[in-house]
This record gives sequence, structure tokens and C-alpha cells, in this order.
Amino acid sequence: MTTRPDDPVRGAPAAPRGHRALVVVAAGSGTRLGFGMPKAAVRLRERTLLDHALQAVTAELGLELIVLVLPSDPAVHQELAAAGTAAAARTGADVVITTGGTTRTASVASGTHAVAEHAQLKGWDPAEVHVLVHDAARALTPAEVFQRVAEAAEASAVAVVPAVPVTDTIKEVTDSQGPGERAVATLNRAALRAVQTPQGFSLSLLQRLSKHAAAAGEEAGEQFTDEAMIAEHLGVDVVVVPGHPRALKITTETDLITAQGLLDAQQAPAVAEPEAHPPAPRVGIGHDIHAFADADEPAELWLAGLHWPGQRGLAGHSDGDAVAHACCAALFSAAGMGDLGTHFGADTVGTARPEMAGASGAGMLAEAARLVRQAGYRIGSISVQFIGSRPKLAPRREEAQRVLSEAAGAPVAVSATTSDGLGFAGRGEGIMATATAVLIPSGHSALR
Ligand code: CTP
Ligand code: MG
Repeated sequence: MTTRPDDPVRGAPAAPRGHRALVVVAAGSGTRLGFGMPKAAVRLRERTLLDHALQAVTAELGLELIVLVLPSDPAVHQELAAAGTAAAARTGADVVITTGGTTRTASVASGTHAVAEHAQLKGWDPAEVHVLVHDAARALTPAEVFQRVAEAAEASAVAVVPAVPVTDTIKEVTDSQGPGERAVATLNRAALRAVQTPQGFSLSLLQRLSKHAAAAGEEAGEQFTDEAMIAEHLGVDVVVVPGHPRALKITTETDLITAQGLLDAQQAPAVAEPEAHPPAPRVGIGHDIHAFADADEPAELWLAGLHWPGQRGLAGHSDGDAVAHACCAALFSAAGMGDLGTHFGADTVGTARPEMAGASGAGMLAEAARLVRQAGYRIGSISVQFIGSRPKLAPRREEAQRVLSEAAGAPVAVSATTSDGLGFAGRGEGIMATATAVLIPSGHSALR
């Protein structure tokens, strides 16, 4: 049987038709959670809910654009924006960051506006742009739901929502809460669904929905709890596809505890077997040195997975990110799998692989991490230090750690030092980075 690339039911995920964009609304205040901070910035296992929400967004989803709609508070805005840098490095999508409004509807409108501007810039037809609108609060939504909604939206459905059957008996009650409240009807459970996100729309429809919501006024905006509800108001067909129990909306502290439990269950080994001799961790070391590019062949500076606008770049066949490369080398060293040259080729001896031209440091680190995992290791941690008089790391250290940790799928600590003016680093001729990595043999490799 052959699988057609546009067949959403069978086989591999269908390739995107037109252009795929994602809007993540993360501008809410999290009042019901009660942590005194915007919900998207609340941490679950040391990562923000927005970080978790973006975990499901992989390169396979084929997104060309990700719009993050963030709270206006500058400190929170800056902290959450780092998740965008990491998502861009991981998926190759353009990332646009914008500020939300006072209601969810207003925040979606702000995200829609950003998609429309980008589409215009790229010359995309709004009818050919499919937009997934997702709540950061549904932080554990699996990738398969994104794929399902995107495929259904592209297969001519006008509006698409993921949903799950409800398990409670749902009753309609009188309006007044408290002792006066009475049940007036029991709804037919078989016909009820709990609706989730991401919801899929063409950009042209989403623009229509935003316009309708704006015309209805702010009070009505508060009543619209999702975009599909506006579509229903307009008589637009809304297609329902299967959602997922993990796509629960984290609203209260109880939901946060449930989400924590789901994460714990995912990490716990299926059967905890006591090991007589737990395998010893393996330590690796890696160095990388890149010279600054000649003035007649200027390059952009990429270091520690970040772009450093306006700074003189490093020479190299790839993007010259010595910090990321040292991390790769340390991983290979710890696994006893050779070095950078073994896996990616080396410019100095003329074995650089053509496909590595301009390759991003974060991308190479993700690939190195994949290779050592495939060889049967779990990555404990990586620590990397670069020696150079510039760029100044301190203001962007957190961002660099986040991007590299995301790429490696394990904690990466980044530090920097100068060489007191001595040597090539002191003379500003280049940068040297040294990394160490700890790997834990996980004992399930077919390769060892
Ligand atoms: N949202 C938003 N802008 C708003 C309100 C909500 O971007 N003005 C986003 C939230 O960040 C969340 C999603 O919409 O990802 C769903 O909203 P909800 O769960 O209600 O989150 P909050 O509004 O933050 O929570 P609360 O209502 O308890 O304040
Ligand atoms: Mg809300």
C-alpha cells in the first residue's frame, strides 16, 4: 500500500499544504491559579508552562511561522521570549513575538494581526495560510494533536477543533450560584465534547472571526472562550477531531498537580529494576577554536546557539559556533564515539560535509545528542566555557543556556572568561571553548 502525502488518515504525517503558522496565546494573568504571576511563566519541573507548550512543536510539524502572544510586563515578556529563540532553533520557523490584550479574544486578534503582517511580507495568500491557535495553558498537548488539527484544516475543513468525550454527567443549572442553585436539565452526555486547542483556521477565516469579535465589543469578547465559538456564531462549519487527555487546560492548582503527575508518570521507568551494579557515568571533554572571520569575508556572529547582531563573526564551514561545537565534541568523547570530525567532517583537513555548510551550532548539538542517545546513553549534563574578550556573555547567559539545553535535551551550563589579554583570545583573533559532558549508560542500546 502506498501512502499519499496528503492522506491524513494513513501512514506518515501529511506534508503541509500552503503555509502553516502557529499562534500561542500566553498573555493571560493566571488569576484562578493564584500564583501572582502570568500563568505562562509558572514553572512545572523548572520549565515555564510556555516552554512545555512549545515542546510539542517539532520540525516535523512543518511550521513556517510561530507567533507568541505574551503579557505586557517587560520582565515576564523578556523571560518568556527566550522560549521563542529555542523554538526557532529547534524548528527553523520564523518567530514573531507580540503583546496580548485584556481578553483571550483580544490576544488571539493580536496574534492574527502578526500572522497577517508576516503573510503580507512573504506574499502569502491568506486563504493558503493555515493557522493553529493554541493556549499556552494546555502545556502538555502532544504533537499528534497539532498534526491532526493541521491536516484536517488543510483538508478543506473551515474550522477545526480537537475534543474529547466528557465523563461527568453535565447538568444545566439556574443562573444563581449558592444555596438557591437548582438543576434544570441533564444534557445528553453522548453528544457532549470537551473542546481543546490547538484549533485550526485559514488566516482569512481567522481575520473574519477577529473582525466579528471586535465589532461585538469587549464585553462579548469576554464571553467568547474560543475562536470556534465565534465561528459557530457566524454559522461557519466547525469540524471536530480527536483531542487528547494530556491537552488538559491548566487553570487551577489542582490542574497543575495533575500535570505534574503526568510528567512524573512519563519519566518513571515502566518496571523499576534494582541494579546490582549501576553503570558508572562517563565523562567527556571537548574543545573547539574558531578564528574571527577576515574583514574582507565578514560573517554574522553565532555563539552559544545565539545570534549576536552587530558583532564580528567567526570563520568556519558551519556557523562557527565554537561553544556549541565544544559541547558536541564532549558528548562524542564521553560516549567514546570519536570527535566532531568523525561525525560532521572537519574544515581544516578538507573533510567538511557539504550539508554542514552554514549549519547552526544548536542544530549540530541536537544531532550529536541524538547520536549519543541512539548509542544508549542518557545525557546527565554539559558544562561549557569559552575564552574570549567578547562577546559579553553575562546579559544573555540564561538565554544561551536555555537554547543549548533545549538542543541537547539536558542541562547545559555556559560560562565565559577572558585570558587577561594573553594569547590569540586576548588579542581578539578568535575564541576557544572547552566543554565537559556526563553521560549515563542507559543499557538499552542495540549498538553497544
Ligand atoms: N490568554 C491571553 N490573553 C488574555 C487572557 C488569556 O493570551 N487576556 C491566554 C492564556 O495565557 C491562556 C489561554 O488564553 O494560555 C487560556 O486562558 P485561561 O486559561 O483563562 O488563562 P488566564 O486568563 O491566564 O487564567 P485566568 O482566567 O485564571 O486569569
Ligand atoms: Mg482567563
